[in-house]
Amino acid sequence: MSLLVALLLASAWQWQLGPGFAPPAIPSDNPMAAGKVSLGARLFAEPRLSVNGTTSCASCHDPAHAFADPRPVSIGATGEPLATNAPSIVNAAWRAAYGWRPGGETSLEQQLRRPLFNRAPVELGIADHEDEILARLAADATWRDAFNAAFGEDPAPITIDHVIAALAAYVRSLTGGRSAFDRHVFGGDHTALGADARRGLDLFYSSRLGCGGCHGGLLFDGPWKDAAHPRVQAAVAQSVTGAGAFRVPSLRNVAVTAPYFHDGRAATLDAVLDRYAEARRFTLSPRERAELLAFLVALTEPPWQPAAP
Ligand code: HEC
Ligand code: HEC
Repeated sequence: MSLLVALLLASAWQWQLGPGFAPPAIPSDNPMAAGKVSLGARLFAEPRLSVNGTTSCASCHDPAHAFADPRPVSIGATGEPLATNAPSIVNAAWRAAYGWRPGGETSLEQQLRRPLFNRAPVELGIADHEDEILARLAADATWRDAFNAAFGEDPAPITIDHVIAALAAYVRSLTGGRSAFDRHVFGGDHTALGADARRGLDLFYSSRLGCGGCHGGLLFDGPWKDAAHPRVQAAVAQSVTGAGAFRVPSLRNVAVTAPYFHDGRAATLDAVLDRYAEARRFTLSPRERAELLAFLVALTEPPWQPAAP
């Protein structure tokens, strides 16, 4: 195999995107590559990446729940509860700011330092244990092979920077866009959305309910996409919970990301709608409620799509 072919194979990355989505911007110092993404997938599920070997990224971002946490608030490796529920990280590749109260991080590489190194509360708790944790991985031939496959150009590839680069590449690979909504609106399949969901869509964007005013755009998460854009600041809105301002969460896959709101206080989508109806003073007839719920369910996609109600 020629060197050129070998390089192309190492760097080849096929996005699996839904019909409405264009590839996300990727930092030039962390290009996508298949070996890097599979290393990241393994690291994501590896409890040895925590201070006491108990917790992995997947402990809080459960793949069965579109990578959200089914517990009201997430629990760190040392048993400390976090302040918030871990949101879904599907489509995080397109996000311009991170967390329920976005800090200054502008890339996933920066953001991932939080779960790895946070001390109060501890998430994975690797601060001051980096060498010990890297040694655990280096002691295992399968990890050495995986790091070599991803970063073989480096003579000592098992480093924290490479752990972060691989995890970020894996998180970017978690793209969606194949929901019934997408198939209907972007895929030309006008049977994909049932009549109920279509009426629910109209309600969602109606001025009476006004959901679309905050949950806008392709991710239903706010009218912003570009980190350099001043409206990143406007990505937060007052919460109907009365608990302050939070970033407008994406509603994609919302049927499987319960419980809801920053602190997981609403156990069901019905409870979310109750909260909105009360706070924003509208009434939903039982039929309208069913239609709105059908629309929200239609934003959920394989492999997470729940059985039709
Ligand atoms: C102990 C639970 C926990 C662990 C472990 C954890 N996370 Fe998180 N994650 C959260 C919580 C809670 C948030 C929301 C944080 C906030 O609001 O500031 C979050 C936010 C994120 C975000 C930003 C999502 C967004 O839309 O803003 C990404 C990406 C992410 N985590 C990836 C990871 C990766 C990768 C790992 C493993 C290195 C990891 N997380 C480990 C709980 C966890
Ligand atoms: C003023 C802006 C705004 C409007 C209008 C709005 N939302 Fe929200 N929505 C938010 C914010 C901010 C949050 C997060 C609040 C929190 O966690 O405390 C949220 C959270 C949610 C959640 C929970 C998501 C999760 O992952 O926890 C759902 C579901 C939801 N909204 C649906 C709706 C529906 C349906 C409507 C219309 C009836 C609507 N929203 C109108 C801003 C808005």
